[in-house]
Amino acid sequence: MILITGGAGYIGSHCAVEFLKNDYEILIFDNFSKGHREIIENLKLKYNIVFVEGDLRNKADIDFVFKNYKIDAVIHFAAFSEVSNSVLKPDIYYENNVLGTLNLLNSMVENNVLSIIFSSSAAIYGEAKHIPINEQHSLKPINPYGKTKYIVEEMLEDYDRAYGLKSIKLRYFNVIGADYEENIGEWHDVETHLVPNILKSVLKKDFIFKIFGDDYKTDDGTCVRDYVDVRDLVYAHFLAYKYLKDYKKSDIFNLGSNKGYSVKEIYDTVCEILNCKIPYEVVKRRNGDPQILLADSNKARNVLNWSTKKTLTESIQSAYEWEKILKNY
Ligand code: UFG
Repeated sequence: MILITGGAGYIGSHCAVEFLKNDYEILIFDNFSKGHREIIENLKLKYNIVFVEGDLRNKADIDFVFKNYKIDAVIHFAAFSEVSNSVLKPDIYYENNVLGTLNLLNSMVENNVLSIIFSSSAAIYGEAKHIPINEQHSLKPINPYGKTKYIVEEMLEDYDRAYGLKSIKLRYFNVIGADYEENIGEWHDVETHLVPNILKSVLKKDFIFKIFGDDYKTDDGTCVRDYVDVRDLVYAHFLAYKYLKDYKKSDIFNLGSNKGYSVKEIYDTVCEILNCKIPYEVVKRRNGDPQILLADSNKARNVLNWSTKKTLTESIQSAYEWEKILKNY
């Protein structure tokens, strides 16, 4: 059985569906601090899943899982992930993302579960020194969120050397889209991400989309990111799981589309797809935002045989379909 921490959240729930579709047994562990009960209820309608409510900050909660279920690998999503919030509240990021993971790793080692796939992030690179960013790029995170991911990657290296815990670190770039046909998608109580915020300003009349800074040193002055569809992203977890089983070797992979789009380009694309003019305003830069993040994810393509299939248009359309579903919750 595979343990998915944070499986009631955005990427974790999509990952659960990917494995369930491939007939794997899944246990989801979540404390609903960011994830949603409705997502678990939706999954239960269609799939046979085990769900355990618990918090990684309480080691007894995660010990319970390893003592009571036969877990052969862990896919670890549970974490706080808002860059700007991490600048304001570093304490809760270190506590949840680092201490929570420490408890998880210790419980794994104590129970002889020695395979983990970890949700890392492009945020660990900090300001790009060269574009595109490959896995050898220096690691200099510029916000506490990125630092927590960096610390956990280091912990995983140490636990491999000391205890033989094998890990695949997957460094995500900007994840978008939704498997709306499965009734899952991006759902944050306070939405900070670009695509849902643009869509929100279409669906909610009292919400105006804000561009955080147009004075960056990019072609149109807005930040550039590499957007990857969540459905493609979770497939990489499936491939990583098989790689870990076959080769029993720790490794690191960037996951992105290898294409960069500015905030303005994403905005223009949404307007074009929905065939409407969306009001927006330009405000000052947001704390902790690097100027450009663009992936070189050729290693995942070559070693894991991963490829991205969804186009930017398909991802945005799927996110729009999901936002319409979400409006009814
Ligand atoms: N942006 C806006 N207006 C908004 C929301 C975002 O202009 O309403 C801008 C941001 O300033 C940034 C870009 O759009 O330049 C993308 O912002 P997101 O919040 O969508 O994503 P981030 O790049 O901040 O972060 C995301 C994840 C992180 C991850 C990072 C890696 O949230 O977990 O991608 O690239 F680390």
